Amino acid sequence: MNDLILAFEVLLSVYKDGAYSTIELNKRVNGASNQAIVTRIVYGVLQKDVQLEYYLSKITAKRPSKTIAVLIKLGLYCLLYIDSIPDYALVNSIVSICEKYGKRQLKGFVNATLKNFDVNKIELPSDKIERLSVTASVPLWLVKKYVKQYGFERSESFLSAPTFTKEHLRNNSKRLSLSQLENKLAERHVEYVQSQADGLFVDNCAFVKGLCEKGMAMFQSLTSMLAVKAMELKDGENVLDLCSAPGGKTVYMSESANVKIVACDIHEHRLELIRAYANRMGANNIDIILNDACVFNDAFEGKFDKTLCDVPCSGFGVASKKPDIYLNASADKIDQLAEIQYKILTNASKYTKRRIVYSTCTTLREENYNIVGKFVKNNPDWEVLSSNQYLPDGNGQDGFFVAVLEKRNGK
Ligand SMILES: C[S@@+](CC[C@H](N)C(=O)[O-])C[C@H]1O[C@@H](n2cnc3c(N)ncnc32)[C@H](O)[C@@H]1O
Repeated sequence: MNDLILAFEVLLSVYKDGAYSTIELNKRVNGASNQAIVTRIVYGVLQKDVQLEYYLSKITAKRPSKTIAVLIKLGLYCLLYIDSIPDYALVNSIVSICEKYGKRQLKGFVNATLKNFDVNKIELPSDKIERLSVTASVPLWLVKKYVKQYGFERSESFLSAPTFTKEHLRNNSKRLSLSQLENKLAERHVEYVQSQADGLFVDNCAFVKGLCEKGMAMFQSLTSMLAVKAMELKDGENVLDLCSAPGGKTVYMSESANVKIVACDIHEHRLELIRAYANRMGANNIDIILNDACVFNDAFEGKFDKTLCDVPCSGFGVASKKPDIYLNASADKIDQLAEIQYKILTNASKYTKRRIVYSTCTTLREENYNIVGKFVKNNPDWEVLSSNQYLPDGNGQDGFFVAVLEKRNGK
């Protein structure tokens, strides 16, 4: 019961006050008797929000107040996805929470709504796009965009990809080689599978965590490593990383060759994350600078051989790791992001002599192909050498976009 109250309170802060689920959960989860279940419930409700909202609309004549809606969504999620709490106990607990939150007069309504809920009696939308929105729990406006972009079958396939539970680990080449890392894992009987990006898929066990804490290895997604590889760094190059916090790609670049890196971010507090990470990994070829990449900086003009633009984006390609990603997303916000992304790429071209890698962790054309396409159209001295849209595949590959742009006759 206490764990359900805790989950409810975290969810209420997210839905009513716009709190970030991870921050809110971290603040409170220590008070739980079973932290894993509270985490699973909170993230699960947020991930299934579109679906739960649909069920709610089908089982209530009039939309309840926000507090009651959150409470019913919590109840529905547990009835559908949490087997360890018996249905009767769950409904009783939800009704008690209703009373505790001063909604005594609604106890009967909440009780009846949950008791009578039978998912098999709920008809899914007959329109296949609307149905996909409910089954995959993705907002309808976004599913419509995907279907236009990828067609129905591809959209259905990546939106319904199962959640991948392993982590992608790489060695810190300053401290040990990939084969040494493999040996260490094998000695401890930790199973791993090699990835296409010189990394290893592993379970996040205590031994692996320990290796990361000692700076011998780190978690870095496969696609994030592919973006760095696309830079094809060579000894002696000057490299600019315009959007670098928390520093995952910066540090990997710093190991890839004997290069000098200027790493920037717009948020001072996020620069601290890069510093801490670079220190832990023993990277000492990185200058960390506060800089707004949307504003032209004449000190950077023509100074860099290569630039990484790992721009701020909607993050829809990693939705399975960001449970509240769709809650406040909208088509207008995508347009605003696209403006920022285009500005950053345009400024980067003025700083860069040869190559720019433009990357995002999203699946939307508006933030990917459209940005680089518009850029080369307006800047004919640049060409797109390659562009790859990766889609979530349920096997460790996130949704990610990497485009390599080169300056014609660049030196
Ligand atoms: C996708 S994250 C970068 C992740 C990073 N490259 C890594 O691999 O760890 C985007 C970053 O861009 C930063 N950002 C947002 N707007 C920016 C701007 N106008 N100028 C510079 N950085 C910006 C954000 O603070 C965020 O840290």
